[in-house]
Amino acid sequence: MDASYWSKRYRNKETRWDLGEVSAPLVEIFKEIEKDSEILIPGCGNAYEAEFLFNSGYKNVCVIDVAKEPLEAFKKRNPSFPNHQIILGDFFDHSGAYDFIIEQTFFCAIDPSLRSNYVQKMYQLLKKDGKLMGVLFDREFEQGPPFGGGKEEYKNLFSAVFSKVEIQDSLQSIQPRSGAEVTIRCVK
Ligand SMILES: C[S@@+](CC[C@H](N)C(=O)[O-])C[C@H]1O[C@@H](n2cnc3c(N)ncnc32)[C@H](O)[C@@H]1O
Repeated sequence: MDASYWSKRYRNKETRWDLGEVSAPLVEIFKEIEKDSEILIPGCGNAYEAEFLFNSGYKNVCVIDVAKEPLEAFKKRNPSFPNHQIILGDFFDHSGAYDFIIEQTFFCAIDPSLRSNYVQKMYQLLKKDGKLMGVLFDREFEQGPPFGGGKEEYKNLFSAVFSKVEIQDSLQSIQPRSGAEVTIRCVK
């Protein structure tokens, strides 16, 4: 799935993943983040999470996506969000050093053959003691994207690289995802 695949989905409004608002489990997770932290949201889509953080006083939020359509919509909704913190590009080519990276429906969007690369790249983009935090599906799908997964797989995948990995059932998921999501916290 390249940039043109995702752009087409946004243009055709085939975006069932899009919540139209900040994700409730992430609002809980954000309570653990200090205001001056450097935060990356990869595969951000319409980036309601970045909007929520920015409007809550987190000024060092950076978003990246391969599709220009959601980034343009984000800019329109948030004219005071710094342009240099909105990146049109491939997460796997990105460089930087962040305190926190936020995951939501990005892991499930990439081809499963790239999952180890995803974990390595997340680790590389974090500062010492930095954390990857977010929500992952705890279910399979017939055909992806989204590509599903489960706790055992995630534990093995992330523990191979990160020093500490916590995976818990998500209690705040929206109704259609209820019982089918876990929260994940991985410390570099
Ligand atoms: C399923 S959508 C989720 C969007 C957003 N996280 C949300 O929850 O609404 C996956 C997003 O990842 C983006 N994406 C896919 N591969 C990417 C890559 N290699 N680098 C950056 N963004 C990517 C797509 O353009 C799309 O916006």
